[in-house]
Amino acid sequence: MIKISGLNKTYDNGFEALKNVDLEIKEGEIFALLGPNGAGKTTLISTICGLVEPTSGTITIGGYDHKRDYRKARELIGLVPQEIMLDIFETVWSTMQYARGFFGKKDDPALYEQILKDLSLWDKKDNKIQALSGGMKRRVLIARALTNEPKVLFLDEPTAGVDVELRRGMLEVVKKLKERGTTIILTTHYIEEAEELADRVGIISEGEIKLVEEKESLMKRMGSKTLKINLAEKIDSLPSQIEREGLSLSDDRNSLEYSYKIGANSGITSLLSDLKSANISFEDLDTEQSSLEEIFVNLVNE
Ligand SMILES: Nc1ncnc2c1ncn2[C@@H]1O[C@H](COP(=O)(O)OP(=O)(O)OP(=O)(O)O)[C@@H](O)[C@H]1O
Ligand SMILES: [Mg+2]
Repeated sequence: MIKISGLNKTYDNGFEALKNVDLEIKEGEIFALLGPNGAGKTTLISTICGLVEPTSGTITIGGYDHKRDYRKARELIGLVPQEIMLDIFETVWSTMQYARGFFGKKDDPALYEQILKDLSLWDKKDNKIQALSGGMKRRVLIARALTNEPKVLFLDEPTAGVDVELRRGMLEVVKKLKERGTTIILTTHYIEEAEELADRVGIISEGEIKLVEEKESLMKRMGSKTLKINLAEKIDSLPSQIEREGLSLSDDRNSLEYSYKIGANSGITSLLSDLKSANISFEDLDTEQSSLEEIFVNLVNE
């Protein structure tokens, strides 16, 4: 759906915000772009959407060159910007009408109604934007981006400042759009959102794409699990026959913790059989899996 190659952006002050970015976004996927503040996420999205002029490189959207076939490319896109850019004197409803009109498409009240209901904004449809809360304005940005029925939707931190319950609602909207075949590129600092939604994850740092990978395989490859073994009786120390890498005794000496890589050679079977031969019995077992968040923090720190 999107092909980016050799993309560079140096701002007028000489700052290199994007360095030789190559990236392909597949049709129908949800791609989460993660990275710390100032990594270049907004610059990348703004460049794809034609708001920022690239210094070099090429971008195609649905096969259309984002400069040469600007109109065709732009028609496919919906953008939910990070900054709230709305005319505060317009109503929610007229914001929707103008946005659709901008693309030369026919007014479609039934479409606006559906979108506003999905985003819990229906009762605000006649409010002026200035009479909305911050979280509501953010949802209006999403509503506006959808009036064009985009094939590709860019969401630049869509849930920043949105309360927990409404955030749930927004995630449901995103899932619904994906079901209808919309390609979605999302940036977020709430990594659990990426974990829940994304098919693939890209990590950007200092203007460079560091990694692009299927979320599942990333979590498998980088993730570790911890097995917690609650002992029937306290032990003073780890007997030498069960000592191994990744195994430790808790401070209260009531349980063992064993951390291992997710995959075939976890070593659990041999640990449990060694426990048995050391005559250590246990009451209960628990496992915990590392989250995408921990993986992300480790990667960025590297
Ligand atoms: N117009 C500009 N002129 C000069 N430098 C800019 C401009 N816009 C952004 N930058 C710089 O480019 C870098 C990337 O900014 P960008 O907004 O793309 O980051 P981001 O990854 O979206 O960060 P955040 O998570 O805070 O939204 C930053 O160092 C920023 O200061
Ligand atoms: Mg940004």
